[in-house]
Amino acid sequence: MSLRVEQLSAGYGSIGVLRDISFTVEKGEVLGVLGRNGMGKTTLIRALAGTIAPSQGSIFLEGEEISKLPDYQRARRGITTVVQGRGMFPKLTVRENLEMGRIAGGRAKRNRRDEVLSYFPRLAERMNQLAGTMSGGEQQMLAIGRGLMTDPTVMLLDEPSDGIMPTLVRQIAETLAKINRAEGMTIIIVEQNVPMVFSMADRCIILEKGRIVAGGSKDEIAQSNLMKEYLAI
Ligand SMILES: Nc1ncnc2c1ncn2[C@@H]1O[C@H](COP(=O)(O)OP(=O)(O)O)[C@@H](O)[C@H]1O
Ligand SMILES: [Mg+2]
Repeated sequence: MSLRVEQLSAGYGSIGVLRDISFTVEKGEVLGVLGRNGMGKTTLIRALAGTIAPSQGSIFLEGEEISKLPDYQRARRGITTVVQGRGMFPKLTVRENLEMGRIAGGRAKRNRRDEVLSYFPRLAERMNQLAGTMSGGEQQMLAIGRGLMTDPTVMLLDEPSDGIMPTLVRQIAETLAKINRAEGMTIIIVEQNVPMVFSMADRCIILEKGRIVAGGSKDEIAQSNLMKEYLAI
């Protein structure tokens, strides 16, 4: 589904973080959100997911205003969030974590377990392993798999490369691109890892101190001074 954000502002209590954010992601598109530490990337994910309420502005999912809905109702409409730090249940097995995803999806949605295990064969080998004993990369695969179990149409990812070996980062990026193609999944990926985003995003925006300071194709961003100015590269 498409997601449209109009003049969104959000923060924590009296602390404003995001200011006047507007962008659109079409169905099946991958939008990369780049920005250094502390620029508001996680706050944007939270505002889209509904874990914080916007102080101003609107969010439309396929034309329907969702910005006043709580997070679980947004999840039922097809938005899943893979949070920063992965948000596993470390004492539950891989199988149980996936099952929690299916339950979180609500209603009688499709059971996506077979597809999830085909995207991430490593999870299939470890169904009985406790999530907390897996490597960072494996946990990230599980977090994405758990999100897919909700049978979403929009996936929000908050720094999936965080703390993960480069080879696994590449593998995860390739799998996300495959999921995007195979399912027409709309993806918003927040990252400081510019190569990862460039390998999969159709378009990017750059966040600086809670505002969008630039946007365009990866070529436009790569060829400009934006990277040096805003991304510390
Ligand atoms: N729960 C919170 N309460 C108050 N301020 C917060 C909270 N979470 C983040 N912030 C502040 O919001 C700003 C943006 O943080 P964040 O969205 O986490 O940035 P990023 O994900 O880009 O690193 C920072 O100044 C941070 O200190
Ligand atoms: Mg963050």
